[in-house]
Amino acid sequence: MSLKLAILGAGAVGGSVLDLADDYGHDVVAFADSSSSVSDPAGLDPGSVHARKERDGVVGDDDPHAVFDTDYEVLIEATPTTLGDAEPGFSHVKRALADDRHVVLANKGPVAERYGDLRALEAESAGTVQFEAAVGGAIPVLSTISDLGPSHVTAARGVLNGTANFILSRMAAEGLDYEHVLAEAQDLGVAETDPSFDVDGIDAALKFVILANVLSDGDAEYRLDDADVEGIRNVPGSALDLAAEDGRTVRLIGEATSSGVRVAPRLVPQGSALSVTGTQNIVQLETTHAGQLNISGRGAGGPETATAVLSDVSRLE
Ligand code: HSE
Repeated sequence: MSLKLAILGAGAVGGSVLDLADDYGHDVVAFADSSSSVSDPAGLDPGSVHARKERDGVVGDDDPHAVFDTDYEVLIEATPTTLGDAEPGFSHVKRALADDRHVVLANKGPVAERYGDLRALEAESAGTVQFEAAVGGAIPVLSTISDLGPSHVTAARGVLNGTANFILSRMAAEGLDYEHVLAEAQDLGVAETDPSFDVDGIDAALKFVILANVLSDGDAEYRLDDADVEGIRNVPGSALDLAAEDGRTVRLIGEATSSGVRVAPRLVPQGSALSVTGTQNIVQLETTHAGQLNISGRGAGGPETATAVLSDVSRLE
């Protein structure tokens, strides 16, 4: 069944949803983007604040409220992640649910920072909220937990920030310095607009907070403030060299368990499941009766994350 999509945020992820929706049999009926970092300057006019925009025959606007006046069925919330009150993303979701529309989020803010509020709004709406794209790009982490049943998964651990992983693996492999490798990650469109989210562990922590919320299944609510977070800025190249002498390497490892969320650089054996390279992500789920499940793949990037968004949309059919 074809669904009518409205997209808020036409950056790397929202722009890829625009490009790929047709391939999944869905129609984009509206989009809005107010930033100057729109991914396809040929099709959009990011420089003109009040310009109407057109891409693939769909008229866009810089005012997010314009999309709410269309006959969309699913809101794709792909505006940049914000912390604290998670605005304006949270208000976008609230408006769509109040209108009984479905919501698919790539934006991590509302799910990590206001999970209880989000679920309360969903309970009052005929619409549903999905957010596979917020955790691990294309890798099906949340749908796997949903299939297993959250009460049968006791912990999630792994690498959920492609930028930090790219930086650590390039530093180790090529002996390159931190700034050089960060610039490469930004050129690839993997790093967040503000890369401090990536290198300070915030982005990974938000994803593990989301996992903690999903795993607790309403028994507890976690926010970023509850997480114990250390990033990779202070990992010197010499630490990677020393680790290599010992057959190990350094990865930014996160963990969501019943005792909370932690993210920090950790030594892991070279060649182990957790030593993924480049922008790959991996999540290890500890199950109650079936041991450990490993899910890995491309955890960041426009088409990869749009794949998760469109899989969520297709689950609504
Ligand atoms: N910037 C993130 C990463 C992708 O590098 O993994 C978006 O969450």
